[in-house]
Amino acid sequence: MSWIATCPHETVKVLASELQTLGILSQTTLYRGIRFECDLEAAYRAHLSLRSASRIQKVVGNFQASNLTQFQSALKVIEWPNLLRSTKPFTIQPVLSDDQAQALGLEEVIHCVAESIQSATFEKGAPKFMEEAETEEAITLVPFFRDGNCVLGIDTAGRALHKRGWRTNGHPAVLKETLAASLLMLAGYTGEETFLDPMCGSGTIAIEAAYIALQKAPLIHRGKDDFALEHLAGFDRNLWRKVSDQLRAQKREALPAPIYASDLRADYVEVARASALRARVEKHLRFSSQAFQDWFPPTPKGLLLTNLPYGERIGGGTVQQLYREIGKVIRERFSEWRIGLLVPARGPLSELGLTRPQVIPLLNGSLAVSLLIQTPSVLTK
Ligand SMILES: C[S@@+](CC[C@H](N)C(=O)[O-])C[C@H]1O[C@@H](n2cnc3c(N)ncnc32)[C@H](O)[C@@H]1O
Repeated sequence: MSWIATCPHETVKVLASELQTLGILSQTTLYRGIRFECDLEAAYRAHLSLRSASRIQKVVGNFQASNLTQFQSALKVIEWPNLLRSTKPFTIQPVLSDDQAQALGLEEVIHCVAESIQSATFEKGAPKFMEEAETEEAITLVPFFRDGNCVLGIDTAGRALHKRGWRTNGHPAVLKETLAASLLMLAGYTGEETFLDPMCGSGTIAIEAAYIALQKAPLIHRGKDDFALEHLAGFDRNLWRKVSDQLRAQKREALPAPIYASDLRADYVEVARASALRARVEKHLRFSSQAFQDWFPPTPKGLLLTNLPYGERIGGGTVQQLYREIGKVIRERFSEWRIGLLVPARGPLSELGLTRPQVIPLLNGSLAVSLLIQTPSVLTK
């Protein structure tokens, strides 16, 4: 079986290594994703376990489609009743990624797929086509065209995978859970060392850190029928339960090393605590409310990873001043720690005074950001 996991282009390598850890070695790197081959059991495990994937699709067709006639005849071969259920509506979101694909026409492509499904013989009638539907309401089909070829995928995630189900509102600048997990993996975090996020905001990075350290599958608490794949024909509920039970059983009971999360604002710490409670990791985290400037390392070594405030004025001072103070704390107190700072790509980075940090370009939504990683041996003294 062939599948596609999507993610931002910048974190494809993180996703590849996650798939590898799951034992999925047959991989092809795509722009903004990875195509992989595995059996149903490994695919179910991937749906529950991938921390950096945005969505997953099951590939149901891969064929020449340089014109609509070719496309229509290729669709005829697809056995829709083996894929879709009569009771679950579907929607179609084509991706026409080059000029040749655009020439086919969006409406025409949608029409071809809808017609092919609705003229197939379903025992209880064809599923309803919804022109505009949320991913929760309908199964989404994604015909992806490039170079006269079409890869036809069915979205099996449903809600985007960064929606883990534990987020509490109340912070204006949260990171996506998938990005937070990617930062941790890029910084080499495995859960075996002390972790600190001293500007934790809503707690996204610390909660994802707890999941990694506890070897807890990030989507394990999604409710029944929450994944789109649970609504497809051929869904194997027993196998899904078996995989979910195995993942629950592999979870650690305690953290190997402490995780600290704090923020200047006590109300944000309360938001983080509420999310951690919903994520069922609250008892593992050490929350406090204090300024970064007041932190001393709780253990001799560890990882400090944080998302610095962007652009806005901080209290009475400026971002420049804050960056200068943070740089000083890092150099003077955390010189034996590994440091990861997510900063705007055009921020006042020189104020931090780090020496040749590794710079990993990323996107936070549409904002260009960099993850700066500093290892102890190259910290300025
Ligand atoms: C960009 S937000 C972090 C968002 C967080 N990563 C999340 O996903 O929710 C930066 C945080 O830094 C906090 N902050 C600003 N100045 C601070 C300081 N001097 N010490 C500690 N926290 C500070 C802000 O209150 C804010 O919550």
